Amino acid sequence: MPRASDRVKREWELRVEAEYKSAAFVHHLVLWIIQLGLSPDLIHDGLRVVEDELDHAEMSHKVYVAAGGRQPPVLDRSLLGVPRNPRVPLELDLVEWGTSLCLGETVAVRLFAHLREGCTVTVARDTLERILRDEVRHRQFGWDLLGLLLEIPTGRQVREAITARLPSVFSELERSYGAGADPVASQFQEEDRAWGLAAPEEYARVFEETFEKDFQPRLAELGIDAQPAWATRREWAGEDCAKAQSFSGPDL
Ligand SMILES: [Fe+2]
Ligand SMILES: [Fe+2]
Repeated sequence: MPRASDRVKREWELRVEAEYKSAAFVHHLVLWIIQLGLSPDLIHDGLRVVEDELDHAEMSHKVYVAAGGRQPPVLDRSLLGVPRNPRVPLELDLVEWGTSLCLGETVAVRLFAHLREGCTVTVARDTLERILRDEVRHRQFGWDLLGLLLEIPTGRQVREAITARLPSVFSELERSYGAGADPVASQFQEEDRAWGLAAPEEYARVFEETFEKDFQPRLAELGIDAQPAWATRREWAGEDCAKAQSFSGPDL
């Protein structure tokens, strides 16, 4: 087994936290779906996603320990959940955070597929295999949720809310995965690939690919034009945006 670098340890430590955070995030959204009585199938699918995310956290922790990590995960209670905006109906809060979930899970599928490619350390590979298998279902859960929200009587308002939300979700994802000046990019070691890591510019490439192959066509199917957000994104390209080289946001 190749020696795990500090970067490997740190990355898997962050993944444990992100997966756990995801479990809380989806659980919270499922409560909202229950409160709205949206669809029993969606509730069950959502609960299964929560269980998966807890498993992902546990499995990622095993990789972290195998890599020599010894610290307990840092779980900030204030980030484990979703804030409710009392000024808007619950439906719109669900639209807002459901859009984050949907797009985040969609990027995750391509990202984990890429991370798995170079991964040879058994414990890490098994974990990535399981995560990837589940993420495909999580992505479907996200799109089913948006599709269902568009069918409620205020569907037109929902479409507008999703459209309005897109730039900030794209921005969030851009900060997590996008290209930009990354001070640690040059420190990427090829050996880390065996542990399921990739260079920051590869994250950026996967992110770009997801925009073109998933976000745009899938949003178009829902009657949502992602073009304005693309334009906004181009403006960000000139910014020196801080970029996390790992899963600093929820693994959605
Ligand atoms: Fe996950
Ligand atoms: Fe997920």
